[in-house]
Amino acid sequence: HAAECTDIVRHGDKPALAALIAKARLAGETERAALFNAADAARRPYYGKNVYFRGLIEFTSYCKNDCYYCGIRAGNRNARHYRLTAEEIWACAAKGYALGFRTFVLQGGEDPWYTDARICEIVSGLKERHADCAVTLSIGEKSFESYKRYYDAGADRFLLRHETANDAHYRLLHPPELSLAHRKQCLYDLRAIGYQVGAGFMVESPGQTDETLAEDFLFLRELQPHMVGIGPFVPHHDTRYAGLPTPTADFTLVLLSLLRLMLPKVLLPATTALGTVDPLGREKGLRAGANVVMPNLSPVTHRKDYMLYDNKICTGEEAAECLQCLSRRIASAGFIPDFGRGDHADRVE
Ligand code: SAM
Ligand code: FES
Repeated sequence: HAAECTDIVRHGDKPALAALIAKARLAGETERAALFNAADAARRPYYGKNVYFRGLIEFTSYCKNDCYYCGIRAGNRNARHYRLTAEEIWACAAKGYALGFRTFVLQGGEDPWYTDARICEIVSGLKERHADCAVTLSIGEKSFESYKRYYDAGADRFLLRHETANDAHYRLLHPPELSLAHRKQCLYDLRAIGYQVGAGFMVESPGQTDETLAEDFLFLRELQPHMVGIGPFVPHHDTRYAGLPTPTADFTLVLLSLLRLMLPKVLLPATTALGTVDPLGREKGLRAGANVVMPNLSPVTHRKDYMLYDNKICTGEEAAECLQCLSRRIASAGFIPDFGRGDHADRVE
C-alpha cells in the first residue's frame, strides 16, 4: 500500500526501511504500478508533469582518484584523456543556450589542472554570457574554501553523489585515501554555503544490500538534498568489477519511486545509465517519479572518452540531434519538456 510505503520512507527506522526495500525489490507488476502511480502523484503538486532539461558538459576526463568501479579512474592506463578550455566550455554552453537550455552542468573527474582560479573563471564567464542560467558543478571533493569561491563566482548547484552511506560498502568501492566521512562533510559544507545540493548512489553496485540501501535512505532523509542522482551500476571492462552482470532498469525504477515518496519536492534525474541498461529506461524513470533529464552537450569528438561504464548511450549524436530525439520521446510519454532553470520548489525566486 502506497500510504504505508510513504509512512515507512518518511519515518521508518533502518530495519523497517530494509524490509520495505526487500519487498519492493520483489514486487509484482500490480504492486509496482501502484508504487509508480503514488510517486507520480507525490511530485505533481510541485512540478506537475514538467521534466527539466539540463545541458551536461563533460569537460575533463582526467581524474586523480581511483574509484574501483569507474572507467575514467586514474589507474586505467587504457583511458583516453581530454580537457576542454574555458572557451570550448563557453562555446558548448552557447550552443546549448541557442537550443533553449537554461541550466548547465559542468562535470568532470577530479582534475587538479582546473585550479580554483580556473573554475571560477569558467563559472563567472558562463554567468556573464548567460545571466538567466543556472550553473551546476560536479567536480568532486574540495575544501569548504574552494566550494565557497565557486559559489561566489556564481555557481548555483553542486552534484556530489555520496555513493553509499555504509562505511564497509564505501571501502569495497573506493581506495583507502577516499573516505565516506569526508564525502559527507563535503555535502554538509555545500549545503551550508547555500548551494542546491545533489547526493545519490549507484543501484546494484558491488556489495550493495537492502541494509546499505536503508542507510542511504536514512542519510538522504537527514541531508534533505535538493537533488538525488541514482542510476544502475554498469560494469566497465577496465575495472576490477568487469564481468559483473549489468542490472536491468527494474530495481532503479522502484527506488526512484521510494525516493520520490520520501522527498516529494526533490529533483530526480532519469539518468543516462538508466537509458543505457534499457532503451526506454529514461521514459520509465519519469513514469516512476523522476523529473529531470541531462542531455549531453559535450563535443562529439570527446564523448567516447568520457566512458564511466561500458555501452554508454548518446556518444555519437550532436547536441541538437540528441535533444530533439529525447524531447520528442518525453512528450510522447505524456510529459512536458521544460527548459527553464528548474530550481527546487523551495528555491524558486
Ligand atoms: N568526479 C566527480 C565526482 O566524483 O562526483 C563527478 C564525476 S563521477 C565520474 C560521476 C558519477 O559517475 C559518480 O558519482 C558515480 O556514481 C558514477 N559512475 C562512475 N562509474 C560508474 C559505473 N561504472 N556505473 C554507473 N555509474 C558510475
Ligand atoms: Fe574519479 Fe572516482 S574515479 S572521482
